[in-house]
Amino acid sequence: MKLAQEGDLVLLMTRKRKQFIVRLVGGGELQTHKGLIRFDDLIGQPLGREVTTHLGHYFLVLEPSLHDLIKNLRRNTQIMFPKDIGYLLLKMNIGPGSRVVEAGAGSGALTLALARAVSPTGRVFSYEARSDIIALARRNLERVGLLEWVELQERDIAHGFDEQDVDALFLDLRSPWDHLPAARAALKPGGYFGAILPTTNQVSELLRALRNAGLGLIEVQELLLRSSKAVPARLRPADRMVAHTGYLIFARKLLSLELMEEWREKRRPRAVERTKAREAEVGN
Ligand SMILES: C[S@@+](CC[C@H](N)C(=O)[O-])C[C@H]1O[C@@H](n2cnc3c(N)ncnc32)[C@H](O)[C@@H]1O
Repeated sequence: MKLAQEGDLVLLMTRKRKQFIVRLVGGGELQTHKGLIRFDDLIGQPLGREVTTHLGHYFLVLEPSLHDLIKNLRRNTQIMFPKDIGYLLLKMNIGPGSRVVEAGAGSGALTLALARAVSPTGRVFSYEARSDIIALARRNLERVGLLEWVELQERDIAHGFDEQDVDALFLDLRSPWDHLPAARAALKPGGYFGAILPTTNQVSELLRALRNAGLGLIEVQELLLRSSKAVPARLRPADRMVAHTGYLIFARKLLSLELMEEWREKRRPRAVERTKAREAEVGN
């Protein structure tokens, strides 16, 4: 049975599901509105059990999941949601040994998941323009023990990426279309490009740019996650949901622009003709 050890991160949860994530240090304690929990009462004890504060309130003691860690991240920027992160890891084939570039690091929510996915033999190259934000991402990664797999670079990616032949590259910043030549130069042939954007006009702008950038097999997707009330006798969707986080845009690095054109033509010649005619009409 797994026992809580000194140095472990543990999740403490009230009956109302309020969460606190703490690192256990001998002699340490957590002060909450429900009273105080001494870490010495947790170290060497099993997880999954209940403890009481000095005021008699109950807390569950659990191992935090990556989902919990991301939800509880200290943040100064908008962060990516676990539903989008989980999907992009599969879609972009990111796993142990992958070499991945991302920008901007922001508070590091995606970085955390990338680092866990590529470990123990892969590497994440994470770019961020702002020094205060990169310091926060570093602290967040350090806190959960994942910094080891990440190289954080303070740089505006208008100056390009240092890496070449990476397996995947993800952009979470306002104008990804400005950085496609640099993204293409960093990717290996066939490598995965991904981006997230909140609005449809931004997606259209990126789509136009992707076509001219040697990035093909383009897909635009959106994930909706709806929770249900977990009550057997009254099982129905929860009243509220997050209706929109962003559109995910995926593409692959093809070796040449000619190849992209050919693939567009071969797959749907009539549709391509129609698109070209429409573009000519609106002056694209
Ligand atoms: C929405 S946040 C990224 C959030 C991050 N993906 C996460 O899950 O926590 C966007 C970040 O991109 C950074 N950024 C914007 N333009 C940039 C650029 N040209 N080069 C590097 N970083 C940039 C911003 O400073 C900001 O921190």
